[in-house]
Amino acid sequence: MASFKEHIDFNNLPRHIAVIMDGNGRWAKKKGAMRIFGHRNAVQAVRDVTECCGELGVKYLTLYAFSTENWNRPKEEVDGLMELLVNTLKQEIGTLTENQVKLMTIGDTSHLPADCQRNLQWAINETRNNSGLTLNLALSYSGRWEIMKAVKQLVADAKAGKIEEKDINEQVFENYLQTSGIPDPELLIRTSGELRISNFLLWQIAYTELFITPTLWPDFRKEHLYEAIWSYQQRERRFGKTSEQLNPVSR
Ligand code: IPE
Ligand code: IPE
Ligand code: MG
Repeated sequence: MASFKEHIDFNNLPRHIAVIMDGNGRWAKKKGAMRIFGHRNAVQAVRDVTECCGELGVKYLTLYAFSTENWNRPKEEVDGLMELLVNTLKQEIGTLTENQVKLMTIGDTSHLPADCQRNLQWAINETRNNSGLTLNLALSYSGRWEIMKAVKQLVADAKAGKIEEKDINEQVFENYLQTSGIPDPELLIRTSGELRISNFLLWQIAYTELFITPTLWPDFRKEHLYEAIWSYQQRERRFGKTSEQLNPVSR
């Protein structure tokens, strides 16, 4: 196969792709370098995937950049990641705007260092009118944190008489999540071969198709994304039904 791109059905693209960008540390280790070297080299993969989603016409790309649990890493690494985030935002803002990319975040960004928060706010504001891909960065994010926060707000609204129990349903609950207004990802990619979810988008991935590749994140390029989309398009999404229900034989 020359390129998976030639085999993609452009009428059946995921609207939302989510990525657990994993394996930066192992990538660096293989090269005998410090972990931060892996994180720095991850930026090119982010560029490639963002540009590719924009070109294909994917509407939302959610990247797991820093989990709640990642705060437990050595301070040196956390500081390095935060610095990298600020530098990358400053460096990429022009390209984001050129490509009509709109930036947003999910997660407890109030925990990020002040200059990170400032730069994020600035970049979000600069790109707010862009009409192409929405690039959603999950920062200081975890699925359980998000669900807990939603539950608390829902209880507060119920106590304040803004909502009644009989009106609470899945759609209403989704409005309380960080991803409110964004469709669930049809496709979730995890790099570096780990077979776990690591507290990412727990509610939203109920019926998401998973694509797990051994490729380490700093090596991930457009061709890998084409492969993931192609793989997604080979699946039969049954949502609990039978295959026969989805493909009735004409008699
Ligand atoms: C993913 O790569 C990046 C972040 C979690 C911030 P890792 O840093 O987890 O790399 P590995 O898993 O140790 O190889
Ligand atoms: C998940 O990767 C978080 C991000 C990619 C930001 P980790 O490397 O932190 O996941 P675990 O701890 O190995 O499950
Ligand atoms: Mg990891």
